[in-house]
Amino acid sequence: MTVDDVRIVELPKISDPRGNLSFVEQLNHIPFEIKRTYWIFDVPGGESRGGHAFRRNEEFIVALSGAFDVIVDDGAERKKITLSRSYYGLYVPAGLWREIENFSTNSLALEFGSIHYGEQDYVRTYDEFLKLKLNGEI
Ligand code: TYD
Repeated sequence: MTVDDVRIVELPKISDPRGNLSFVEQLNHIPFEIKRTYWIFDVPGGESRGGHAFRRNEEFIVALSGAFDVIVDDGAERKKITLSRSYYGLYVPAGLWREIENFSTNSLALEFGSIHYGEQDYVRTYDEFLKLKLNGEI
């Protein structure tokens, strides 16, 4: 996987003077079956999280509220994607280093995953990630 496999997906937006509505469907806007949904909230403004890679877990990230930057890195190239609208999602395949930074105050990050939570799926240091990537193990 490379940073070119990361993609922004525009979600349906039903505009309505009473308030807009968006939605996501698995195996449609999200290109995998959803096994897990979690959200990150109460993040102090400017804070960073999520410096790690997943061996198998694919992710789909939505900025439900506020804004933050997602950094993706394949060991050769690094890309920054700013999410700031709730009708866009970011698909991040497994096997990439990723960080989320620059959270705005009161932002809310919604994340869908393709597998259940398991610490063994995480690569927690960038050095280990580079090693695995070089060996073709991730
Ligand atoms: P982690 O994914 O490391 O957070 P971030 O990438 O945003 O820094 O998760 C932080 C902790 O939360 C981790 O030690 C275990 C727990 N956790 C779960 O129990 N289930 C989950 O689905 C997630 C994502 C995390």
